[in-house]
Amino acid sequence: MAINLGIFSAIFCLLLGSAFGDWNILKQNWRLGSKGLVDITLKNYCESWRLNVEIHNIRDFAVVPDECVAYIGKYMTSTQYKVDSERTVQEALVYLSTSCNLKKDGKDAWIFDVDDTLLSTVPYYKKNGFGGNKLNSTSLEEWMYLSKAPVLDHSLKLFNELKGLGVQIILVSSRDECLRSATVDNLVNEGIFGWTSLYLRGPDDASKDVQSYKADVRKQLISKGYRLWGILGDQWSSIEGSPSAKRTFKLPNPLYYTA
Ligand SMILES: *[C@@H]1O[C@H](CO)[C@@H](O)[C@H](O)[C@H]1NC(C)=O
Repeated sequence: MAINLGIFSAIFCLLLGSAFGDWNILKQNWRLGSKGLVDITLKNYCESWRLNVEIHNIRDFAVVPDECVAYIGKYMTSTQYKVDSERTVQEALVYLSTSCNLKKDGKDAWIFDVDDTLLSTVPYYKKNGFGGNKLNSTSLEEWMYLSKAPVLDHSLKLFNELKGLGVQIILVSSRDECLRSATVDNLVNEGIFGWTSLYLRGPDDASKDVQSYKADVRKQLISKGYRLWGILGDQWSSIEGSPSAKRTFKLPNPLYYTA
């Protein structure tokens, strides 16, 4: 009996070992149990990766996993991305009309990110591996200097709604101060104008991570008497940290992670 058990467990370990040895995300096709049939495809895996980025379980990724680059590229250029973003804006508009008791004294304020909130960097990432390559900030900045980033219409809709209500719009970007005129040109050319201030990272902010830089800007704004009703951003570092705004709205962006 003891010998039989020994042989059994040796075979079991061998099978287990070979199962893990062969494990490859591209080959995944698992059948679990006799009733529940679970076929995990690459699409399932990548969609779950994307969802877990959005709900902030996956953090600090330097690149999109190789096997999901095609999936993420497809998502970022899909109708689904537009629908997801429009939904975010729709929820912000509902909040604005039901839960914001605007004082209209020039101190009601709303914060926007720039990249992948008002302007899209998708054309850059499309040419540079769709998040699969490690970020080259020199080449990204070269692209930003061209002022050719297209507007994200869904966000512009919220921007214009707020503008119409007399809410002060504050743009807080992690772009460097040297990109100021290129950024302003780009925004205005794309029909985005009428903001109150545009914060870019100056020499004093160079040592801070993006989350602290953005939280410090909010602290300054609050000390100037602004009521921060909301933030629209595509990165968790734009909406986390203290002080925050009364509500925050996260747009989808599985292309890159800014800490
Ligand atoms: C980053 O981009 C710059 C400008 O396009 C280029 O000169 C440089 O070789 C790139 N660096 C890497 C590591 O690819």
